[in-house]
Amino acid sequence: MKFKVSPLRVDWDKGIVSFIDQRIIPYEERWVEVRNGKETYQAIKDMVLRGAPLIGVAGALGVYLQAKRDIESGMNLDEIFRDLEDTINLLRKSRPTAVNLFWALEKVRNAIQSSSLKNSAELLNLLRRIAEEIINYESEVCVKMSEIGAKLLLELKPNLRRVLTHCNTGALATTGPGTALGVIRKLAELVPDLMVWVDETRPYLQGARLTAWELVKEGIDHRVISDSAAAYLMSKGLVDAVLVGADRIALNGDTANKIGTYSLSLGAKRHGIPFIVVAPISSVDPNLPDGSSIPIEERPEDEVHYIRGVRITPEQSKAFNPAFDVTPAELISYIITERGAFKPEELKEALKQTTEV
Ligand code: MRU
Repeated sequence: MKFKVSPLRVDWDKGIVSFIDQRIIPYEERWVEVRNGKETYQAIKDMVLRGAPLIGVAGALGVYLQAKRDIESGMNLDEIFRDLEDTINLLRKSRPTAVNLFWALEKVRNAIQSSSLKNSAELLNLLRRIAEEIINYESEVCVKMSEIGAKLLLELKPNLRRVLTHCNTGALATTGPGTALGVIRKLAELVPDLMVWVDETRPYLQGARLTAWELVKEGIDHRVISDSAAAYLMSKGLVDAVLVGADRIALNGDTANKIGTYSLSLGAKRHGIPFIVVAPISSVDPNLPDGSSIPIEERPEDEVHYIRGVRITPEQSKAFNPAFDVTPAELISYIITERGAFKPEELKEALKQTTEV
């Protein structure tokens, strides 16, 4: 599957990673360079990059960059190991909800601990290999999920024409064609008159800015809607399926995703519309039996108060800005992973299969 967007460039030899600045798309296409663990942490925290799979990739790259800087500054191997442990702990604090970050950093930490490294060159090679594996994994699973998801949807709804999506789950959020948006890309190949309802996704506007930008680049027909229009469209029979991504899925299928996802699932249930979560196995948290203890990030009030620097609320008003919500498993029709399409209650079985990087 061809797709026209890539959110990152890596110069392994110089030790520079560039991320397309997702804070200013679609107004400008500017790249932000990071050169060490701390800059990577800041870029994740400030949402230069975002989206669960890409946050995990950035975490692994941040450790690689820090190792490169440590080696250049003449540290010995023991000093580097200690510094990388601090770097991993710092990166873990950047954003709390997307489990892919913790999954990727654990992979890096385990690899360092279980290898008998003789020198810093071997360490750097190891960190590069792990980061490349994660980049490739997050790309390959998107392609697999796109095919599995499109096939399932056309079985469920042979006349499917209008799908609704929330937030940005596309190439900007991953290293491949995307999760939910990857399925939509595939559907657009198969259904020539496909039309996508794009929730604007207040307050950060990932839908209005990022998903719409990707769909324009791909030439896929879409309409941006205010989040509050979704249930109305469902009630009028104008939505054939809802497709969303995930930041963390508990073992029972409860799913944390961008704030507003839960409301969509309620509307979909009321109107008998398939509600599909598309996410790689790296988004499943094997330590959580259900979604009640998924940490929900609270972001700054100003993201609600301001749109592009213009205050839209009274100066005296306070705001509250939870960035995610949890959709209970019983409201989810299917979870599409790279291992297949599962009912939420079948997810535990999927985890027993082994197709890891
Ligand atoms: O706050 P964000 O923009 O990082 O939130 C992103 C989402 O909630 C996405 O739906 C999720 O990460 C899946 S991305 C493939």
